[in-house]
Amino acid sequence: MNIQELVSKKNEGIELTYEELEYIVTNYVNGNINDSDMTLFLKAVVNKSMTFDETSNLTTIMLNSGDKIDLSNINGVKVDKHSTGGVGDKTTLVLLPLVASCGVKVAKMSGRSLGHTGGTIDKLESIPGFKVELDLDTFINQVNKIGVALASQTGNLVPADKKIYALRDVTNTVSSIPLIASSIMSKKLASGADKIVLDVKVGKGALLENLKDAKTLANYMVHIGNSHGRETVCVLTNMNEPLGNAIGNMVEVEESINTLKGYGPSDLKELVLTLGSIMVSLGLGISIDEAYKMCVTNLENGNAYKKFVELVETQGGKLELINDSKKFSIKSNQSGFITKIDALMLGELVRKLGAGRLHKDDKIDHRVGFILSKKVGDFVLKDEELMKVYLTTKDCRIDDLLKCFTIENDFKEKDKLILEVIK
Ligand code: URA
Repeated sequence: MNIQELVSKKNEGIELTYEELEYIVTNYVNGNINDSDMTLFLKAVVNKSMTFDETSNLTTIMLNSGDKIDLSNINGVKVDKHSTGGVGDKTTLVLLPLVASCGVKVAKMSGRSLGHTGGTIDKLESIPGFKVELDLDTFINQVNKIGVALASQTGNLVPADKKIYALRDVTNTVSSIPLIASSIMSKKLASGADKIVLDVKVGKGALLENLKDAKTLANYMVHIGNSHGRETVCVLTNMNEPLGNAIGNMVEVEESINTLKGYGPSDLKELVLTLGSIMVSLGLGISIDEAYKMCVTNLENGNAYKKFVELVETQGGKLELINDSKKFSIKSNQSGFITKIDALMLGELVRKLGAGRLHKDDKIDHRVGFILSKKVGDFVLKDEELMKVYLTTKDCRIDDLLKCFTIENDFKEKDKLILEVIK
């Protein structure tokens, strides 16, 4: 067996066996297959896809590449959450403390940015002192003590995904159903939670643009999760325009804090309450309606915010966000309704300005970001502000930012945010 032979086989659309996939993953992880050969394999998967059996096998192989976390020392049902990634997706920062404040234990390992989509760990690192790396004992003790922990993947948890994910990020091989499904599910299964809630983003700013592909991904993941004995629910959500108003790391943390204090954007709140009620219902064994009421109460009475502060302080963070970037406004050059905001273009622009990575080892600039002053459906006057831009070392063209907004005379109806729930 050799990698060139297996790449050709995949390029011809032939199904790979468990042993062949294991050969590729194991040899890439231990360095016997180099980045350029692995990239050829990933590109072949992007082009020819994988069957459900191949995807399920790939998930098991990745899962077995490292340690599996045993959360049995934490009392109660542990519920995990994951998003396939979007632009402005700061949901975890609001959702986790909310769910924990309702009494559900959440031990979550999060990722870094991938392609044009942001990552929770990069966002958390905009909080001075916040420790994203916790050893396993500290992680488990913290969940037992305060009900929630939010950390980066430990070194030996799914090392195969860690290495492949970083390569996919810079080789344009992110948008593939089997690669996304195996990456997410291997991590979720290794993280040890009893129940899994997945936010599958669909649209321009998501890894998958159309509903059909997103449904296939959701069905793959639900099937893989349930077949490993973990009840899995997928929520398909719209990602045509950015979620909320802030895009970037520090600005997204600020928006999350505002949402926890009760004055965040309505779409972010709607998503958090939808996912929160599913997680709380699974965790406490209560109805979705009861769980929803509990989530609304805890968001409104400040309990969720208190839990967030407790989480930040426990992980060594100080809620003093200092953003000394250059700030300026982008003004509209015409009046009309905003009918589209291109989440993908905004995600790419903010990434290039320093909020994400273009190369594997790039350093992120947490201060870079955008804040939308208008969302789809809003009316804008000529010379009125469309967005604020926070820049540090790089500059961008105003025209490129203006191109992200479509302004027309008529506007019919806003797309729904929550598209479907698959169990
Ligand atoms: N999130 C992940 O963890 N992996 C992917 O491949 C895509 C999104």
